[in-house]
Amino acid sequence: MASNEQSAARKRPEDLRSARWFAPDDLRGFGHRSRLMQMGYSPQDWVGKPVIAILNTWSDTNPCHGHFKQRAEDIKRGVLQAGGFPIELPALSVSETFLKPTSMLYRNMLAMDAEEMIRAHPVDGVILMGGCDKSTPALLMGATSANLPTIFVPAGPMLRGNWHGKELGSGSDAWKFWDERRAGNITQQDWNEMEGGIARSAGHCMTLGTASTMTAIAEAIGMTLSGASSIPATDSAHIRMCANAGRRVVDMVWEDLVPTRIQTRPAFENAITVAMAMGCSTNAIIHLIAQARRAGADIGLDDFEKASRRVPVLANIRPSGDRYLMEDFYFAGGLRGLMNRLGDHLHRDCLTVEGKTLGEVVADAKIYNDDVIRPLDNPVYAEGALAVLRGNLAPDGCVIKPSACDPRFLRHSGPALVFDSYPEMKAAVEDDTLDVTADHVLILRNAGPLGGPGMPEWGMLPIPRKLVKQGVRDMVRISDARMSGTSYGACILHVAPESHIGGPLALVRTGDIISLDVAARTINIEITAEELAARRAAWQPPEPHYHRGYGWIYSQHVQQANEGCDFDFLRTEFGPAAGEPAI
Ligand code: FES
Ligand code: MG
Repeated sequence: MASNEQSAARKRPEDLRSARWFAPDDLRGFGHRSRLMQMGYSPQDWVGKPVIAILNTWSDTNPCHGHFKQRAEDIKRGVLQAGGFPIELPALSVSETFLKPTSMLYRNMLAMDAEEMIRAHPVDGVILMGGCDKSTPALLMGATSANLPTIFVPAGPMLRGNWHGKELGSGSDAWKFWDERRAGNITQQDWNEMEGGIARSAGHCMTLGTASTMTAIAEAIGMTLSGASSIPATDSAHIRMCANAGRRVVDMVWEDLVPTRIQTRPAFENAITVAMAMGCSTNAIIHLIAQARRAGADIGLDDFEKASRRVPVLANIRPSGDRYLMEDFYFAGGLRGLMNRLGDHLHRDCLTVEGKTLGEVVADAKIYNDDVIRPLDNPVYAEGALAVLRGNLAPDGCVIKPSACDPRFLRHSGPALVFDSYPEMKAAVEDDTLDVTADHVLILRNAGPLGGPGMPEWGMLPIPRKLVKQGVRDMVRISDARMSGTSYGACILHVAPESHIGGPLALVRTGDIISLDVAARTINIEITAEELAARRAAWQPPEPHYHRGYGWIYSQHVQQANEGCDFDFLRTEFGPAAGEPAI
């Protein structure tokens, strides 16, 4: 059996949390029951049945979740078959594509939405429907704090893009062809046609971006049904997975299989291992630290650093890999195949939502294409996807994705070219008289959690047009921003502390020599400690971005990138959550 906790007594109907709303013979109970009847339900619908909240992040502005209206019905079908009572709760739809200044500003808002709506409603079990970048960690962070039996239902990747018979990958190919357009190598008409071909169906980005990374992580932690994260959004297997999740979560309520029994430190270590083997998005670091800390597992940058030296990249998916997309990964055996192949790199005794161990649920998984999911002795990269650098430029760390950059930049010294804001940088890179060479180190500051605000995905600074025309396609770029998981290049991200609060990035001047050595994990400004101290003493903090509203709350409480950017007051060690609703 998976765990000796498996033998925990099954719940009785009178033990259901929702019974506190619906069972009492008092005025409140009357109110709750009469309002269910107002919606057309009869006691047969709810008495003695687990209430399953389906947190649906569908919206008209979220193309990655475009199929969720129908999928919620499929989940309900499963819940009803298993003897549960499904209720659909709309949750904030954090759409990567449309939210300004950045979706990351709202990750914690969705996390709070999820936690509070689960706690406030008569709910016994939860299905989370997410997938577009921030929605996965946000929903899981909230559900972790609420701690009711929960299954995460991933949106699944969209179909491969297509343009003129060529496969297009979301994000990655947009950046790539944008540079070709800037260089004059493709036409306006080509570009317009690409707009209609790069995103062909509902589902999240089908490159190995943040969405594919975070849903794979959710599965590796054990919070999805086995195999769920690899299924393309519009495949009929996705519909069946949704109904299965609905059926399974009802049993989880009777078993009282709550997230704290699944989300242990070894489970998060598995998530890091899988992230590395997938050639993951750098965003995984921030989200996983935040989620793990909600679960009481103190995961930090060093855990990623250790895993990156131990775990090879096996998934040959763009942008880290050279060729394939998520649909290929699914047909090659998917995450189950990859996890089975990882063997003893994983803690196979971790429990999953299926009530079995990770080892058990992947035991029969096979791999059908060794070029898409590489063998351990023929990896895409022998070392992991991410490296954490430290030095006088980033005392609390910064991150690079060596697997997605030109190897000649893994050890580099060059003069800094500093931009104080995104608009300043954007104008400068289009200026053909800009004084810049391919050896320069482009620096963008005021792009961190507070400075951005919201730590936008500006970290893949465009190569100056002058250099693009000369054929340059990669340069060293440093910022306190994030970058899209679909981006690539020698981009050093998440510099902590950020420049907005006076981190050393705020003190760099154009012309300073910046040195990085990925093998040695170092990054430094080549100036003396005295000079750095003098600049720090003269530094003036910038004006705050917000004086009221959610942005103000965010500014008061968001933590730095190396701490996961969660709000300080939401961290588990801040204090116990409020008790169950009293009335
Ligand atoms: Fe939603 Fe990429 S835009 S996952
Ligand atoms: Mg993204």
